[in-house]
Amino acid sequence: MKSGAHVTIVGRREQPLRDLAERYPAAVTVVAADVCAPGTADRVVTVAAETYGGLDAVVNNAGLARFGPIDALDTAYLDEMFAVNVRAPADLIRCALPLLRVSRGSVVNVSSVGGVLSMPGRAYYGATKAALNSLTRSLARELAPDVRVNAILPGPVDTPMWTDTGLDDTGIERLRTDLVASTPMGRFGDRAEIGQWVCTLLDPALSGWVTGALIPVDGGRTA
Ligand SMILES: NC(=O)c1ccc[n+]([C@@H]2O[C@H](COP(=O)([O-])OP(=O)(O)OC[C@H]3O[C@@H](n4cnc5c(N)ncnc54)[C@H](OP(=O)(O)O)[C@@H]3O)[C@@H](O)[C@H]2O)c1
Repeated sequence: MKSGAHVTIVGRREQPLRDLAERYPAAVTVVAADVCAPGTADRVVTVAAETYGGLDAVVNNAGLARFGPIDALDTAYLDEMFAVNVRAPADLIRCALPLLRVSRGSVVNVSSVGGVLSMPGRAYYGATKAALNSLTRSLARELAPDVRVNAILPGPVDTPMWTDTGLDDTGIERLRTDLVASTPMGRFGDRAEIGQWVCTLLDPALSGWVTGALIPVDGGRTA
């Protein structure tokens, strides 16, 4: 918004979206919907196109994390995570494609270092992000030179995600301590440190020759 973008934001809870839209009334349009529900992707693209007259970019940020060893997790969690982390991004890209081709636009998928590192205790989540990385690289070639497709791979970032992973408080605290200890920069990342990279990948003046890139923004975890 600060760089002059007009944005259509999506989430299931309407109030946080409305709160943001109130701060930037001319720049933000709200769609309260589940990205996995049939018809959401079409609706989002239609709202964006009708409100702003076209579409320059798609950011697939919504994600679901369910952590735990394989013998403690119901396989249904794998389906749930694939639906949010892989199927929904693919569907939104598909629906947005005609408009992105016109604008020679850009897609940024918010993936995870979990898609390239081994993830004991978080294997299902890692598998969904590995699939999103694969989707990113394949679509980058398939859609070039019209549409660029890249992914940001965050390391651990302080967000509400950490309060809703399926692990109990002790398990989360232990995991957070281990992650800080194994991150060369010695701390969790900040949301703005991810957002800045998303904006860079959306801006053709800064990244117009970058496509198919999986960019770790991870405090050195993959170094
Ligand atoms: N935090 C980290 O350490 C970390 C590390 C690596 C990668 N990531 C990735 O970064 C992305 C953002 O994660 P975060 O940490 O900001 O997580 P978060 O705090 O849990 O936020 C997730 C966001 O996605 C929305 N969302 C989730 N499921 C949705 C659905 N079915 N339909 C519509 N919206 C949905 C949520 O809004 P509603 O609840 O209102 O729907 C919320 O705004 C995710 O893809 C995550 O996998 C995070």
